[in-house]
Amino acid sequence: MSRSAHPAGPRHADVLTEGHYAAPPADLNALDEKVWARTVSRGDDGAVTVGGIEVTRLAEEFGTPAYFLDESDFRARCRAWADAFGADADVFYAGKAFLSRAVVRWLKEEGLNLDVCSGGELTTALDAGMPAERIAFHGNNKTVAEIERAVRAGVGRIVLDSFQEIVRVSHIAQQLGRRQRVQIRVTVGVEAHTHEFIATAHEDQKFGIALAGGQAAEAVRRALTLDGLELVGIHSHIGSQIFDMAGFEVSARRVVQLLTEVRDEHGVELPEIDLGGGLGIAYTSDDDPREPHEIAKALGDIVSRECEAAGLATPRISVEPGRAIVGPTAFTLYEVGTVKHLEGLRTYVSVDGGMSDNIRTALYDAEYSVALVSRRSDAEPMLVRVVGKHCESGDIVVKDAFLPSDLAPGDLIAVPATGAYCRSMASNYNHALRPPVVAVRDGEARVIVRRETEEDLLRLDVG
Ligand code: LLP
Repeated sequence: MSRSAHPAGPRHADVLTEGHYAAPPADLNALDEKVWARTVSRGDDGAVTVGGIEVTRLAEEFGTPAYFLDESDFRARCRAWADAFGADADVFYAGKAFLSRAVVRWLKEEGLNLDVCSGGELTTALDAGMPAERIAFHGNNKTVAEIERAVRAGVGRIVLDSFQEIVRVSHIAQQLGRRQRVQIRVTVGVEAHTHEFIATAHEDQKFGIALAGGQAAEAVRRALTLDGLELVGIHSHIGSQIFDMAGFEVSARRVVQLLTEVRDEHGVELPEIDLGGGLGIAYTSDDDPREPHEIAKALGDIVSRECEAAGLATPRISVEPGRAIVGPTAFTLYEVGTVKHLEGLRTYVSVDGGMSDNIRTALYDAEYSVALVSRRSDAEPMLVRVVGKHCESGDIVVKDAFLPSDLAPGDLIAVPATGAYCRSMASNYNHALRPPVVAVRDGEARVIVRRETEEDLLRLDVG
């Protein structure tokens, strides 16, 4: 971006001249459907609506900051994944992306299964009526109490993550007089092209058991000998926010290779493989995510081809999308508090939330988009940084984005694609009150997770 291209905004440091914010979009009022939930549109009077309700009305009724989740979009995405994978495969929604009792009910109604990774997620799932056999229990350090609860409840599978856990789960299951269905999570040695903190298939990290050096084969050997376990398959999750299918294909190939070795050594054909989640979504107009049917086809083809070559019956495939289902369905609505122009540097737009409701920008250097949603504006674009209200200079919500230069305190702005890992990773930093999640559908809005109150804070602080 040349400085003269934006006479209305202040000048900006050279570091801001690359990437998707190098030039402003042709029309700041336009909403790119790639990054917004399906029922979001701008009404004739200029205010944005979701599920047929204006955001100005939503802000009045529910306050800001708040997450608004498009329920029909969520359900449509569940169906798209279920249809793409068909009756011979299973889709497990990864609850860590965002979980609430309403979400569990929607998943149940739309025919999805659920992946949980803590006692809290398991409780939410069971409380909202998800049948235990449709739940997979994950985690690299499940406690004995959590394992006992999961086995007692009868979860469909526990995904084993270490040699110690193989023995631990078997022991607990035997004590409870059960034989627990399990998968073994392996690390396939793929370098996923994503942020280091969300890549999980290289060997030097805490999850899973490496295929390299025969460790995974040894894990299978041990699991097959233990009476408390019914080993049903192998699991691999290579990381998150991945667009390139190549990593999944390598992962699938290596998992099938292990199944072949297991067949050759033990005469046992493990009936299931799980290829994890991790499919990327569009946070900005530059991102081009894959559709579920493309993913299903790519994975299905590679698994059947490899199995055929090895003379194995094709196992039942499962996947665990979290972000790809819930991420695009929600946006965070903020009210602008101050607009600060730092001459020759940058314009800071401060909103009434921040890193407590979206830690992803600070943690992963994540990119987001933002739009003025309470009205239309034809003012010149200005390049801004959207920041929160926390006592931390890394408290950035959107690093660089264009907003109209007449932006003023009281305007509402919204950050799309915040359905995944925003509310679920929210914190009380600075004693912030975590925002509510409001589900919107067909002209009706209802709170599914209420806003925290100061009484909630004081109730935990027992003095
Ligand atoms: N399955 C397993 C075993 C996982 O560990 C994860 C994510 C998923 C499925 C779902 O991945 P998804 O489809 O949502 O990418 N907090 C980070 C992401 C960490 C994900 C951890 N595991 C973020 O905000 O990007």
